[in-house]
Amino acid sequence: MIAAPPLRERKAWQALEHHHAEIGRRTLRELFAADPERGERLTAEAEGIYLDYSKHRITDETMRLLIELAEESGLPQRRAAMFAGEHINVSEDRAALHVALRMPATESLVVDGTDVVTEVHKVLRQMRAFAGKVRSGTWTGYTGKRIRNIINVGIGGSDLGPVMAYEALRYYSDRDMTFRFVSNVDSTDFAEATRGLAADETLFIISSKTFGTLETLTNAQSARDWVVSQLGSEDAVARHFVAVSTNAEKVAAFGIDTANMFGFWDWVGGRYSMDSAIGLSTMIAIGPDNFDEMLAGFHAMDEHFRHAPLAANLPVIMGLLCVWYGDFFDAQTVGVMPYDQYLKRFPAYLQQLTMESNGKHVTLTGERVDYPTGAVFWGEPGTNGQHSFYQLIHQGTRLIPVDLIGFAQSLNPIRNHHDILSSNVFAQAQALAFGKTEEEVRAEGTPEHVVPHRVMEGNRPTSVLLAKVLTPRLLGSLVALYEHSVFTQGTIWQIDSFDQWGVELGKALANQIAPELESAAEPELSHDSSTNTLIRRYRRLKAMS
Ligand code: F6P
Repeated sequence: MIAAPPLRERKAWQALEHHHAEIGRRTLRELFAADPERGERLTAEAEGIYLDYSKHRITDETMRLLIELAEESGLPQRRAAMFAGEHINVSEDRAALHVALRMPATESLVVDGTDVVTEVHKVLRQMRAFAGKVRSGTWTGYTGKRIRNIINVGIGGSDLGPVMAYEALRYYSDRDMTFRFVSNVDSTDFAEATRGLAADETLFIISSKTFGTLETLTNAQSARDWVVSQLGSEDAVARHFVAVSTNAEKVAAFGIDTANMFGFWDWVGGRYSMDSAIGLSTMIAIGPDNFDEMLAGFHAMDEHFRHAPLAANLPVIMGLLCVWYGDFFDAQTVGVMPYDQYLKRFPAYLQQLTMESNGKHVTLTGERVDYPTGAVFWGEPGTNGQHSFYQLIHQGTRLIPVDLIGFAQSLNPIRNHHDILSSNVFAQAQALAFGKTEEEVRAEGTPEHVVPHRVMEGNRPTSVLLAKVLTPRLLGSLVALYEHSVFTQGTIWQIDSFDQWGVELGKALANQIAPELESAAEPELSHDSSTNTLIRRYRRLKAMS
């Protein structure tokens, strides 16, 4: 573990507190007026992603101090520890080695006596062979028909990554196949995902790291019933089910042949797993070559994060800016607005990545933190958000830093749509930063009583991320960028970004409550009075005709 002093005692932190007292009141208008070159200087670029962070409430001095904070917090050492496979996930005593999932076959990384890169490529070869068979129609269903529909059954990291990647890379997908995703234990999710599909053309990928997640196992059982009842034989299961898991025993117990299981390892966190075998549906959709491109994009960003100087390191800059706003400006949330319809599930994906990782209240050594940690991440594709919640970002009372993600080229160019879309990226960043003064509003002939309503204070920070076009490689780099930004934040806060104990209590309580909802006889309830009353009310409503 890296021995850094408690956060508030770090020199750079204290310097940042003083610095914030000075800079916190300066506006972006002033900062740009005093330093016209900042729009060119406060930028960084890696792997085809250009980051403009000039419209943040920072100066060169802020960045210098934030970088010092990263160094004093042991970021270079902790980063090295992650890449070396050390057990940086202390509460689960595991490595966090998602970076090994995208290392080229020529590399090697021995962890706990095993070359994990060899293991990774063994599974990738198995995935490629299987995806090839499904895509070419060589893998047939029980009645001999080719597979046309893929349904991924999983939840959390075993769903959000695959859905996001499928939507993001749909342009590159096999359009003769249908891809659907079931995550919610709400039977509506299953019913709608299977609606209109023929079981003999449908393959279920049961994705679960533990193969013990109630929602996924319940959906998997319903999928099995659906297949067996349509095809009339238990033997159909072998042709219509494959599993992605770390738990071969449970996969076998469910009835899936472990020859049709794609493995991964305890050192891949669920929310860091979309480029492991959990990405099988992605590989079938876009093909192995495109999947390889995506992995290459991940790896290239890993290398950038690993080797670029901190001051020019995209994930480091983005992570430090999150710390700056969350801890010094008390910003509670970060908005992520992709200006690309294909990235419509990217914010949902990021929510698990960021919030399950950094929603922690104790340090690596178990002391309660006395500073805010992970922000709430949220977002929607632009320009839809502009006609919905941007009002609050522009004129509300809360400070919300926003990432605007844009592309210079559309994959589906039609007339001038794309320039209109992109003009909004730049316009929003401009409006949020510089707003509109009282004088400007008045000069437009606005009636005096409306003037205060039309004033836009500005001074709302944004990062603009600009790339050429959305490709599999670019997506890999973009996801890795956010992964390492999360890591940077967690390192400054000295928290374990790789465990998720907070989700356990709710699961245990639900396991206790489920039989009380199901039982025919009135159960004896021993919860708090609110929960008892809700359960009784539910049972009464459920029994009503
Ligand atoms: O409940 C949280 C969680 O453990 C996530 O971290 C994980 O991605 C998800 O559940 C699904 O877990 P599994 O892949 O083991 O079914």
